[in-house]
Amino acid sequence: MNAPGPTEPPHRLRPLRALPDASGVEIIDQRHLPHALRMATLRTAADATLAIADMAVRGAPLIGATAAFGVALQAQHEARDAALQAATAALQAARPTAVNLAWALQRMQRRWLALPVADRAAACWAEALAVAEEDIAVNAAIGRNGLPLLQALAARRSAAGGGPLQVLTHCNAGWLATVGWGTATAPIYMAHALGMKLHVWVDETRPRNQGASLTAWELGQAGVPHTVVADNAGGHLMQHRQVDLVIVGADRVTARGDVCNKIGTYLKALAARDNGIPFYVAMPTSTLDLSLTDGLAEIPIEERSGREVTHLSGRSASGALVEVQVTPDGTAAANPAFDVTPARLVTGLITERGLVPAQEAALRRLMDPRP
Ligand code: MRU
Repeated sequence: MNAPGPTEPPHRLRPLRALPDASGVEIIDQRHLPHALRMATLRTAADATLAIADMAVRGAPLIGATAAFGVALQAQHEARDAALQAATAALQAARPTAVNLAWALQRMQRRWLALPVADRAAACWAEALAVAEEDIAVNAAIGRNGLPLLQALAARRSAAGGGPLQVLTHCNAGWLATVGWGTATAPIYMAHALGMKLHVWVDETRPRNQGASLTAWELGQAGVPHTVVADNAGGHLMQHRQVDLVIVGADRVTARGDVCNKIGTYLKALAARDNGIPFYVAMPTSTLDLSLTDGLAEIPIEERSGREVTHLSGRSASGALVEVQVTPDGTAAANPAFDVTPARLVTGLITERGLVPAQEAALRRLMDPRP
C-alpha cells in the first residue's frame, strides 16, 4: 500500500517544456548549472540530438522525453517515412547507454508508422506530450512506493538514538534528470515535504560532477539538508554508520536485475553490501531492458572524452565560468561513463508499479501484460 505523499513536484520549473504553439521545446541547459540558470529552445530534431549528445539535457528519463520531442519536431517539418527514420537514427546515436532513448523512439515510431503522413505532426506532438506527462506521474508513483522504505529506516534510526535519516545518492537522478520529481529523489522530496528529518550525502560524481553541481543545486532549492562528498568518501561514511541507505537511479536494468548507472555506482553498492546497508535503485519501468540478461556483457557503456577527466570547470573568484587542467600535459585519460552493479548487490528496485527484488522472475512478472 502506498503511503500518502505531496502531490506537486518539488520545483515549479521543468527541465523540458513544450511550447504551446508546438514550434519548439524549452529546456534548462544543464551545462551551466549550478552557476547560471539558462534556458534554451530546441526547434528541430537536430537541436534535440545535439542537446542530448552534448548533455544540455541528460538523465535517462529526460533523454527519452527529449528524443520523443525530437521526433515530434521532425514531424512538424517533414513527416514522410525517410525523414522520420533519419531523425530517429540520429537521435538514437546521440547517447548509447540509457535505454529510455530507444524506448521513447520506439514508442514514437509505433505511433507515426500507423498513420498517414498528413496526420503525423499532430499525433507525434500529442504522443511526446504524453511521454513527458507520464514521466511526472511515474516518478510520483516511484516516490510513493519508496517513501515507506525511508519511513521504516527513519523509525529504526530514531529507535537507535535519533538524528536525521542518512541517505547517500550518486550522480543526479533528481528532477533535472526527468520531467519532474526525479527517480531516486522522489521519495526524498516526499519524505521532506511530510516533515521527515533527513540528510543526503551527495557524491560529487566525477568526472562531470552531476552530484556536486546538479543534485546539490536541486536539493538546495527544495531546502533538503545535504552535504557534498568526494566520490571516495562513501565507503568511509558507511563504515562509520553515517549512511542508513543508498538510493541511486539507473540508465538500464536487465531482465535479471543488473543495474547500469553512472560510473562509481558499483563501488557504492560493494561498500553498502560490506557494511550491511540497503542499496536501492529507483527506476521507471521504461528503464528496464528485458531483451538483455547479463548487464556486464551486454550493456553498451558510453566512453566519453578524456577531457572530462583531465579538466574541471567551475566558477572562479571573479564570477567567471572557467575550465582548468588538473593533469600533466599530454597525460592519457580514459572515461567510461557508466558501470554495472550486479543484481546480487541490489536490495530492491523501486518502480512505479511497486518495489521488486532484482530477480528475473519478479521483473518479468512486473512487466507481464496479462491481468
Ligand atoms: O550521464 P548522465 O548525467 O546522463 O547520467 C545520469 C545517470 O547516471 C542517472 O543516475 C540515471 O540516468 C538515472 S536519472 C533518473
